[in-house]
Amino acid sequence: MKHFVSFEGIDGSGKSTISKLVYEHLKIKGHEVVLTYEPTDSWIGKQVQKCIETGANPFITAFTFTADRFEHGKQIQKWLDEKKIVLCDRYAESTYAYQGAQLQELIKDPVKWLKDLAKNRIPIPDKTYLFVIEPKISIKRIQNRDNLIPFERVSFLEKVHENYLKLAKGEQFMKIDATNKIEELVDICIKDILS
Ligand code: TMP
Repeated sequence: MKHFVSFEGIDGSGKSTISKLVYEHLKIKGHEVVLTYEPTDSWIGKQVQKCIETGANPFITAFTFTADRFEHGKQIQKWLDEKKIVLCDRYAESTYAYQGAQLQELIKDPVKWLKDLAKNRIPIPDKTYLFVIEPKISIKRIQNRDNLIPFERVSFLEKVHENYLKLAKGEQFMKIDATNKIEELVDICIKDILS
């Protein structure tokens, strides 16, 4: 049985829809479960939104996402101490993939740099579900949204996609083909969480 799992993928991969359905299913089955997400609604989370909307400096963006997670991590740890199952829609791997892409031309090995920043400071998920989809397809899924953000461009999402695939070589990850039927994707996650 997993206690803390995160849902990751590029914009338009379907992870928010899937995490909500997994949450509802586990709740109906009588499990004590929390669905949470990043960026959070806290005051730091609001600064994160500003960073995204204004296209802030990539270092400021990386520090702000990380700061939001340090606070969020404390809350997640409390839920875990209360023996709840915690589902998180985006977590540290989003920073490694997205800010890793933003910092690519600015520092050497940005993903390692970002990981070092968080090391021993945040709870680590038992499993991370990575919903894999080609950026060209995911962009088609979201292109009719009114509030597209600067990250939602194919050229940028290609870099994020590459970073996710490299990260997914780690044991923590389960790669899932995001083009499968929603019910199948939900089922895969539920079976894994309860196993
Ligand atoms: P959302 O669409 O899942 O709410 O996330 C908002 C955007 O923020 C999305 O494009 C992914 C991006 N993001 C990062 O760049 N770094 C992070 O650490 C997180 C959590 C999200």
